[in-house]
Amino acid sequence: LSQTQIAVAPPARGFQVESAGCDDLPAITALYREVGRQGGGLARRGDEITEEYVAEFVHKSLQQGIILVARQNGSIIGEIHCYSPGLQVFAHVFGALTVVVHPQAQSQGVGRALFQELLARVQRGHPEILRIELVARESNLRAIQFYEKLGFRREGRFENRIRRDQGGYEADIPLAWLRMAE
Ligand SMILES: CC(C)(COP(=O)(O)OP(=O)(O)OC[C@H]1O[C@@H](n2cnc3c(N)ncnc32)[C@H](O)[C@@H]1OP(=O)(O)O)[C@@H](O)C(=O)NCCC(=O)NCCS
Repeated sequence: LSQTQIAVAPPARGFQVESAGCDDLPAITALYREVGRQGGGLARRGDEITEEYVAEFVHKSLQQGIILVARQNGSIIGEIHCYSPGLQVFAHVFGALTVVVHPQAQSQGVGRALFQELLARVQRGHPEILRIELVARESNLRAIQFYEKLGFRREGRFENRIRRDQGGYEADIPLAWLRMAE
């Protein structure tokens, strides 16, 4: 196949990015399990996506951060969240950023739309936030390049932090978006 013949998924249509609520917990749990089963992106495997894990990040994001979902025909096909770690010294930081898009809806612009809305809300509504942090495994090149296009910068590497399913270890890469750099 030549470059021009490679099929590109069409843009996902008819989805909206909006704030999530507590009612979305079951659908967000199901989405994370689906993406966890896919492997290679999330640190948690499908069987490690517990209701407690999802409830904790949903509640923290609602109370001290941002949580958004992408909805298509009533189904949640993507989610993004981040929240302040809680201590006063970190009051200007949103951390624990995680983004997922349903395997069947990936590469259609949903992740980009979620991120753009999150960054727009930080710019508009959270002047206190100067720094947003995330971590991605080194082999998730596509995600790392995507974050760099959005303005995140690499801040080093956590050598051998991730144990690979197929054996061996790989680095985890910390990235941050800084308001000053925008
Ligand atoms: C990473 C993820 C959130 C991206 O969301 P997405 O909806 O698939 O991505 P988008 O379609 O919005 O594309 C975003 C960027 O990814 C890149 N991209 C998209 N499809 C790609 C593909 N098939 N191959 C390589 N890069 C691709 C492009 O750089 C694109 O940027 P562009 O808008 O300038 O073209 C999503 O794929 C996902 O959930 N992956 C599994 C879980 C995961 O890895 N989460 C992140 C953990 S750190």
